[in-house]
Amino acid sequence: MKEHYYNKDKLPLLIEPRSSDSLEDLLQWIAANKESFTKKFHESGAVLFSGFDINTPSAFETLALQIDPALKNDYYGTSPRNIVPNTKFIYTASELPGFYPIMQHCEMSYVKHPPITLFFYCHVKPEYGGETPLCNFRKVYADLDPKIRSEFDKKGLMTVRNYSGLQNKSRFNLFELKKWNELFNTTDKAEVERQCREQEMEYAWQDNGNLRLIHNTPATIKHPVTGETVWFNHTQVFHPTAAPVEYGYIHARQHRAKTLFWALLTELMVKAKKLTTEPIDQSMNVLFGDGTEIPDSYIRHIEEVIWKNLVIIPWNKNDVIAIDNFSTSHGRLPYEGKREILVCWSAAPSKSPPKGETL
Ligand SMILES: [Fe+2]
Repeated sequence: MKEHYYNKDKLPLLIEPRSSDSLEDLLQWIAANKESFTKKFHESGAVLFSGFDINTPSAFETLALQIDPALKNDYYGTSPRNIVPNTKFIYTASELPGFYPIMQHCEMSYVKHPPITLFFYCHVKPEYGGETPLCNFRKVYADLDPKIRSEFDKKGLMTVRNYSGLQNKSRFNLFELKKWNELFNTTDKAEVERQCREQEMEYAWQDNGNLRLIHNTPATIKHPVTGETVWFNHTQVFHPTAAPVEYGYIHARQHRAKTLFWALLTELMVKAKKLTTEPIDQSMNVLFGDGTEIPDSYIRHIEEVIWKNLVIIPWNKNDVIAIDNFSTSHGRLPYEGKREILVCWSAAPSKSPPKGETL
């Protein structure tokens, strides 16, 4: 195998075949070099496999299982996803429309047991855009303004999500993304409550049939292996102010008329939403742990630090990227035309320590 780092910040580690290396060779090489591979994976935060004959979702699943045999199906995130036929653990990464950017996040950062490793696979190369940028969230924490950072350290976060239910007929809503029956994969309220208790989510049914989920968490974690402090939250993803800021950065990169359109439209929509809806009632929001609002200027600062550290690599067909979810975030840039990126993830066994505690 050929190994080298993609950039000077060592994110990601790039592994490519020598001319004769097949997927089978790669699987054997990972098994034979498990210890050094894992060490480099944790140091970098991500490994990109490029140029191998990973032609099917099943081949992708085989590679992911070789790296982390603990793949799981539990998903309590916000993206609508579909299972891929003839696989056990492979899903479409997101059914959100192409114009919709997915901001940088560590997967399910707000739940008690977030995924440990994430895997993405390029089955159909995007025609335009659609990269899955990466960001070292250890670096983001280190680069934040110390005054702002200490406020997050002191107060922690309250992540709020409000989901409509069966009364809402449309699948996609710009602010809400999915409904509670999709999130929990059931229409039975008692089953929803059981899952909430199991996942230690605070929940409350609203008079209009909506479900409110609240997660109180620190803003950071200690990496379970290296002990480094990592920015580990969905603050800018869920905060209403972030969308137009994100579109501003995207427009500066993509220069499309439609990115300018969305930057201006989201600015207006977010202003209207903030005027008409209380912070706790927004479809998604992040407040400080004491329930006070996070200033808009803090969100702009977080976006600036993230974009400064963003690594954007165009997809090639059959690429697979493995991401250490406890150090490295991912997202999606808007795309046009065909694009098929698949995902799977591993989770900690339930007896493992909750996030924030070092293994
Ligand atoms: Fe994600």
